Parts: sequence; structure tokens; C-alpha cells
Amino acid sequence: MATNATFPSRSATKKNDVVPVLELRNLTKQYPGHCAVDGVTFALEGGSFFSLLGPSGCGKTTTLRLIGGFEEPTAGEVLLQGRPVNGLKPYERNVSTVFQSYALFPHLSAWENIAFGLKRRKIKAAEIARRVARMLDLVSLAGKESRRPSQLSGGERQRVALARSLVLEPDVLLLDEPLAALDPKLRRQMRLELKAMQRRVGVTFLLVTHDQEEALALSDRLAVMNRGRIEQIGSPEEVYLKPTSRFAAGFLGEVNWIAGIGVRPESTRVSYEPDPDPSRSRPAQVTETVFLGDCVRVLTKLSTGEEAVAQIPCPQVRFAAGEAVYVSWHATAEMKLPDL
Ligand SMILES: Nc1ncnc2c1ncn2[C@@H]1O[C@H](COP(=O)(O)OP(=O)(O)OP(=O)(O)O)[C@@H](O)[C@H]1O
Ligand SMILES: [Mg+2]
Repeated sequence: MATNATFPSRSATKKNDVVPVLELRNLTKQYPGHCAVDGVTFALEGGSFFSLLGPSGCGKTTTLRLIGGFEEPTAGEVLLQGRPVNGLKPYERNVSTVFQSYALFPHLSAWENIAFGLKRRKIKAAEIARRVARMLDLVSLAGKESRRPSQLSGGERQRVALARSLVLEPDVLLLDEPLAALDPKLRRQMRLELKAMQRRVGVTFLLVTHDQEEALALSDRLAVMNRGRIEQIGSPEEVYLKPTSRFAAGFLGEVNWIAGIGVRPESTRVSYEPDPDPSRSRPAQVTETVFLGDCVRVLTKLSTGEEAVAQIPCPQVRFAAGEAVYVSWHATAEMKLPDL
């Protein structure tokens, strides 16, 4: 079994019996009159990238706070490397958290921010210097270590926040919407860096996001969460291509619902002629076309009153609002889901 010398992230009791680095068993947090986390169960393999995806208020941050020890569950268990950690203080758990706000110390330099947690753990100065230098290299901030957060760009601050958590060599790194404050271009760039960094250090990352593109791009596995519960867990491909609920289908990507059948916009076609198969073709009217550079979105209203969007890469025809068209799809693109 491969283990990383600096970041041991897997442990095994016996051969082929790998203990999950993190396991949640029926984790529940009840606030007065409101259940924020409702029986959440999942296990993370060491060295993997897992995302928790769901709308605002669904319980993502609360789940992270329960794992980090900032909240105690009403019921259920958190296990780290197979050991229950309920009741342990945050600093007694080998996890660290990157908060959305970064929460850097404004009066400390990048170097001091990264060293802060190590100093608190009373690690020797030479060891601190060695580990901070390695982190500065890892996040490409060598040469900028004496700057304060206000003298760094948003992306650089973000990397200081990551380095400050990673330097503690946690079993699991919890990331709560770490890229939300960045502009779209920097966000894309940091997304790639985050993934590369995770691969390099081999630490298990648990990312919380409500950005589906981010979750799809980064995760080995992801969970879609809704109202405190996990709706579906799987690889990005599994959840996108084979959603098990309407909610999961609609949250991870967009869906047109036509007579109870779900079809993704990229599988939806618009034409002036009906499809030979009338069961998979509906008369419609174009309501709007939106040019997005790499594709065009054609918004339509079906004669039944339902709305459908087709996303077409470089269309041959430019559909105009008000035109009578047909909206069609292939049998293989149909998603039939229980109405949950
Ligand atoms: N201390 C608290 N007391 C009572 N209710 C709380 C408390 N903390 C969170 N909640 C409620 O629990 C629910 C889940 O909150 P949580 O912060 O986990 O959501 P989230 O999924 O992280 O949302 P967002 O994407 O907006 O950050 C919300 O309805 C919130 O109002
Ligand atoms: Mg949150």
C-alpha cells in the first residue's frame, strides 16, 4: 500500500482492509425546531478528493463543524482513522479547516501566518522553519513570505490560508467554499492548483461548495445534500449521468422536464422539422437565444406550456425568438426519476 512519508493518510489494520480516513455514521445535529444535519452517513478513502454539494442552508457548514469539533452532534458518530472522536476538542482531532473568509491574521506576515499553528503546538524552531519553507514552495509563495495579507492578492491570500492548514499535516483537510471570494478566472486557476496540490500531498480533501462546476471538476466522489440529508453519493459521472432523484439531477447540472422525463440541455435538439419519433419530439416556440461564446442556448416554450433549454455548440442556424420549432431528444438521453 502506498503511503506518503510526510502525510500518512491511510491506515490499515490488516492487508486489504483499509480503514476510512473519515467516517460519519448517522450524524445528526438538531437545533431548536430545526434539524440542520439529518442522519448523514459516508466514508472517505485516504488521499481522495470529496465534495459536499448542496444549496444554501442545506447543512454543509454544520457538517464540517461537526467533523472539526466546533459543534457536538445530537446523535451519530464521527470517526477519524477508525477512532470515534465525539467529545474531543478541535485541536485534539487531526483535521484542519480552511474557512471561506480565510481568517488570516492581518498583522502577521505570510510566513508567520503559516507558522502560527506549529508554534502553538510547541514544535522546535528549526522544524517550523523547514516545514514553512516547504509549504511556501508548495503554494508558490517563496519570496513573498514577509508580506502581510493586505499586501497579497486574493489568490495569494487563499494560498496562505491553504498552506496554514496543510502545514499541520492533517488526516483530512476541510475546505468551506474556499474559492468563493475569487473572481471567475482566478477561481478556475485556483481550482486546478487545488487539485494538483491535493494529488501532491496525498491528504484527503473534503470540499464544501454550492458550485456544481467546481464539484464536478475536482472530486473523485461527491455527495449531493438537501435539507440536512444526503440525496446521492457517487463519482461526478455517476451522479451527473445517473441521478437517483429529481433534486440531484437538477442540482448537479440543468434538466428540462418534459412530460415527467428529464433531458439535459446538451442532449436537447431544436429543429424546424419534427423528429421521426413523435414520442420524443414536441412543437415549441423559441423565446430567446443566448450567445455564450462556445455555445448557444436556445430557450423554448413547448405547446404544453413546459419550458426547455437546448445548449448547442456552434449552431448552423441562428434561431430567432418567436420562431416555431420542434424540441427533440434521443431515447438514450432520457432520465426517468421518481418524483421526490
Ligand atoms: N447555531 C445555529 N442555531 C440554529 N440554527 C442554525 C445554527 N447554525 C446553522 N443553523 C441553521 O442550520 C441550517 C444549515 O446551516 P449551514 O450553515 O450548515 O448551511 P450551509 O449548507 O453551509 O449553507 P450556505 O451554503 O449558505 O453556507 C440553516 O438553516 C441554518 O440557519
Ligand atoms: Mg456554509
